[in-house]
Amino acid sequence: MRKVPVGLLQPGMKVARPVYDSMGFLLLNSGVLLKNEYIIKLQELQVPSIYIEDKRIPDIVVEDIVLEETRQKATCIVRSILNDINKQPEKNFRTLLFTSKELNSVLNDIITQLLQNPNLIVNLSDIRLADNYTFAHSVNVAVLALTTAISLGFSRSDLHKLGMGAFLHDLGKTKIPLSILNKQDRLLPEEFAEIQKHPRYGYDLVKLYDLIDASSAAVIFQHHERTNGNGYPQNLTGEEIHKFAKICSIVDVYDALVADRPYRPALPPHKALEIMEGAGEEFDLFFLQKFYRHIAAYPIGTIVGLSNGEIGIVTHNTVGFPTRPNVRVFWTKDFQKVNPYEIDLKEKIDIVVDRVIEEKELSEAELLNYCS
Ligand SMILES: [Fe+2]
Repeated sequence: MRKVPVGLLQPGMKVARPVYDSMGFLLLNSGVLLKNEYIIKLQELQVPSIYIEDKRIPDIVVEDIVLEETRQKATCIVRSILNDINKQPEKNFRTLLFTSKELNSVLNDIITQLLQNPNLIVNLSDIRLADNYTFAHSVNVAVLALTTAISLGFSRSDLHKLGMGAFLHDLGKTKIPLSILNKQDRLLPEEFAEIQKHPRYGYDLVKLYDLIDASSAAVIFQHHERTNGNGYPQNLTGEEIHKFAKICSIVDVYDALVADRPYRPALPPHKALEIMEGAGEEFDLFFLQKFYRHIAAYPIGTIVGLSNGEIGIVTHNTVGFPTRPNVRVFWTKDFQKVNPYEIDLKEKIDIVVDRVIEEKELSEAELLNYCS
């Protein structure tokens, strides 16, 4: 299966992963054959891309690292907390108390699923809708932070505290006017100064009711700090920043880069990782390296050109080898078909991935090959 931008979908393609609307309702289930009206509806709803079966790799199934229903449940809880908080400030305590109980429960489920996963590598990126961005982002930040923390050997108790902070890291944005948050144009200095207050707003809120651990609150307060002192709100450096916040700062930026935004399409993982590497001094390098181990630079289904000139589709990724996937070779460099064969780049160290081939580079005939 492969992630395909909605603009390139064609009738007859088979949906490979369920598509939900921004309220968590199922729009299209896996196995459905696309019809023209479905594609138009997806365009109307501004769904950026969906996962489609590719008959060239029918044996390859891509699993999310947490169950879809758990992700949807978590997104729903985060949505309700972020939507309700500060609407009627006198009810904030009730909202936080009630939703933090629900968050604790779904967080336990996520931690259990991640701990039980033998190959904890991220091959899927969210296909979230624009109006669901903040909620899906909060859940993704939690899942990615926990994945990194598991690699670091954190105790279950610490995983829980980190996950809670990650879920609520942008809680303070509920106090920022939407006119600033949703502004498409460049922010004025005073607007940016207001945005920079959200870590403190969120921290003050959770401290007031004292419902979460101090280390979770530190994530909320410090997730925009940078190890070189270039962050906000306190310009902390290095060891002054809580380790949970350091992890969250990394995954927060990464997840924003790989998401479709109204002003730019999602970056593919290998590009996002390149940007993160370029900003190395902003992040704790030790944690950044641990994070890398779990992100497939070339997720399953990516069409890649290899340094030996051949072209194939990624079929497997392994923790610790984010840039050395298994590739099923189908074509020569000018898309002449070859007898398909599998190559494991962990073993063939003289061959590397040297380019990613985008959907729009494929011929009509190759695109139609998706159809079963
Ligand atoms: Fe933030």
